[in-house]
Amino acid sequence: MKEVKFALIGCGRIAQWHADAIRQIKDARLVAVCDLVEEKAETIAKKHGVKHYTNYHDMLYKEDINVVNIITPSGMHAEHAIDIMNTYKKHVVVEKPMALRVEDCQAMIETAKKNKVSIHAIFQNRFNKAVLKVKEAMQDGLFGKIVLGTVRIRWCRTQKYYERDPWRGKWSFDGGVLTSQAVHHIDLLRWLLGEPEVVSGIASTRLNDIEVEDTACAWIRFKNGALAAIEATTAARPDDLEASLSILGEQGTVIVEGVSVNKITTWTLGKINMKEFSEAPPTIYGFGHIPFLEGVVKSIRNKNPYPISGEEGEKTIRLLHAIYSSIEQGKHVYLDDEPRSLRLGILKQKDKKIRDLYITPNPYR
Ligand SMILES: NC(=O)c1ccc[n+]([C@@H]2O[C@H](COP(=O)([O-])OP(=O)(O)OC[C@H]3O[C@@H](n4cnc5c(N)ncnc54)[C@H](O)[C@@H]3O)[C@@H](O)[C@H]2O)c1
Repeated sequence: MKEVKFALIGCGRIAQWHADAIRQIKDARLVAVCDLVEEKAETIAKKHGVKHYTNYHDMLYKEDINVVNIITPSGMHAEHAIDIMNTYKKHVVVEKPMALRVEDCQAMIETAKKNKVSIHAIFQNRFNKAVLKVKEAMQDGLFGKIVLGTVRIRWCRTQKYYERDPWRGKWSFDGGVLTSQAVHHIDLLRWLLGEPEVVSGIASTRLNDIEVEDTACAWIRFKNGALAAIEATTAARPDDLEASLSILGEQGTVIVEGVSVNKITTWTLGKINMKEFSEAPPTIYGFGHIPFLEGVVKSIRNKNPYPISGEEGEKTIRLLHAIYSSIEQGKHVYLDDEPRSLRLGILKQKDKKIRDLYITPNPYR
């Protein structure tokens, strides 16, 4: 394959980052974009000089495409990805969270296998320079025995944000701060500290009139004995304050701060130039979509390992469900018991009409 041809489905808030990233990757080309709302698709299409569509079946029927980036509402990822893999045999890149239910993640992975295509789950913060440096230190054993990891997400999402689109702030289609924002950082804890064993969580809805939580705290004990603390809120005011990560080990401590885990402020594991591993991205989305999608291109062209596999995406959703299950039951829960939230990703009767908004009929069937 000379170049890997991409299409986007969903041209909302984050889609521009995908289009801009693809443009910067050697051997990758954006071919077409699609959104149910024509103006949204047209805006990105015009900027990148590509075709736009409002029905993804039309797009995939007519265009020569290898990879489809699923950037639709979180609760629709599974349905859209499965349809595209089954009907068009395309590789898929799925925005975070991969899906809202573990069983949906499993169905997506199975569908990819059945159709001999790849599925990639986005967690772009894994590719932040600072985070990669922490991962390297972890792999080189520089921390010694790990004591404690902490992530703190203090972001600002107002009522206006939740009211922008019908899917936001709903258990069926979005989830709360843990699913929609802190999932990045929960993923980092799991990626860096290993297999979680037991979790405990507590949540509240403080400043937003939404059915999901806007504030939560949780604790994890990993199988290796290390502990982790999660503090997450979208009720920070008046602006995004921070998304930070700290890791304490017997040989030293690392703290990565900034609004999106992008700036090393403490490093006691030997001498490094902290500035060299710090970035100042213009938004909380960071720069990670570029190396992530570069990894997707390399995996398709050269059979390199996936940058983040569907299985990796699923493991983080399992951890998320364990935390919600603990919150719902009011007690510690063990991952080995396969705990599931009774709310996240469960389609309620009252929300069925929201799903109808995002389903694309196939005119070729
Ligand atoms: N990685 C990140 O940092 C990051 C940041 C923001 C959002 N996200 C994720 O990206 C996804 C989208 O978020 P957003 O903020 O861009 O949402 P958004 O609501 O702004 O955009 C979603 C778009 O999908 C379109 N859509 C829905 N169904 C469609 C269909 N069948 N065909 C074509 N278009 C369809 C909608 O019209 C909408 O424009 C969510 O899952 C979110 O969690 C990730």
